[in-house]
Amino acid sequence: MNTTSSLVASVVDVRKIYGTHGSVAALDGVSLGIRSGEFTAIMGPSGSGKSTLMHVMAGLDGATSGRVFLGDTEITGMNDAELTVLRRRAVGFIFQAFNLVPTLDVRGNIMLPFDLDGRSVSRDEEQWITHLIQTLGLAQRLAHRPYELSGGQQQRVAIARALATRPKLIFADEPTGNLDSKTGREVLSLLSTASSQYGQSIAMVTHDPIAASHADRVVFLADGKVVADRPRTSAAEISNLMLSMETAA
Ligand SMILES: Nc1ncnc2c1ncn2[C@@H]1O[C@H](COP(=O)(O)OP(=O)(O)OP(=O)(O)O)[C@@H](O)[C@H]1O
Ligand SMILES: [Mg+2]
Repeated sequence: MNTTSSLVASVVDVRKIYGTHGSVAALDGVSLGIRSGEFTAIMGPSGSGKSTLMHVMAGLDGATSGRVFLGDTEITGMNDAELTVLRRRAVGFIFQAFNLVPTLDVRGNIMLPFDLDGRSVSRDEEQWITHLIQTLGLAQRLAHRPYELSGGQQQRVAIARALATRPKLIFADEPTGNLDSKTGREVLSLLSTASSQYGQSIAMVTHDPIAASHADRVVFLADGKVVADRPRTSAAEISNLMLSMETAA
């Protein structure tokens, strides 16, 4: 199974059931592969299972049933220690909880993935990190701790940290959610560049049809199921699809 090496992450018939009494099927038989080098947008109504899918695909949360792969490696049933190393090397996260380390300043937080891996920073990586810091407007904030930053600034630090090591795969859950429109556009353009120029694969949850129109592919979830899967399409077409799904529900 999963011999298609062009998939950087995939789930096969995954179910995620929450709760012991009155259980909720957050994912109800989802099969989806994130293709190498592609920018994939994940859309769908609130509660449709988007965040759950990101967490399960990234191995941050286990599935109730079904199989989960990162690259060719099946992570279903892998132990935490193995999973942590695999994730740190290959996967970047931009999630709704930014998980910044409160005792580290902005620079320390951005460099954390290198430090955790005991890895030194090449000149090329240093230039990329400087570019990220400037593009994300963090140059004047490098010595600040997370509690001294606004929500949007914290989000931008989390984005810089996720992109710093140029991971093969990036999961982003509403990465432009707290940002003003100019910064939101900068973040989208950083993500597009990451996939088009550096061949990184991106799975991004968004409610914004304009953000999704930057993606190579748009996947729609409803009630824990994939209900549509389209190649790159216009913001207008995406809005129409969203509307038709809401009225169908
Ligand atoms: N820890 C949990 N315990 C119980 N139910 C949960 C838990 N996390 C999520 N759910 C339920 O699973 C379903 C899917 O939630 P999920 O967070 O994946 O939705 P979403 O598509 O990301 O929504 P949103 O757009 O609002 O972020 C919802 O019905 C939610 O209430
Ligand atoms: Mg969510």
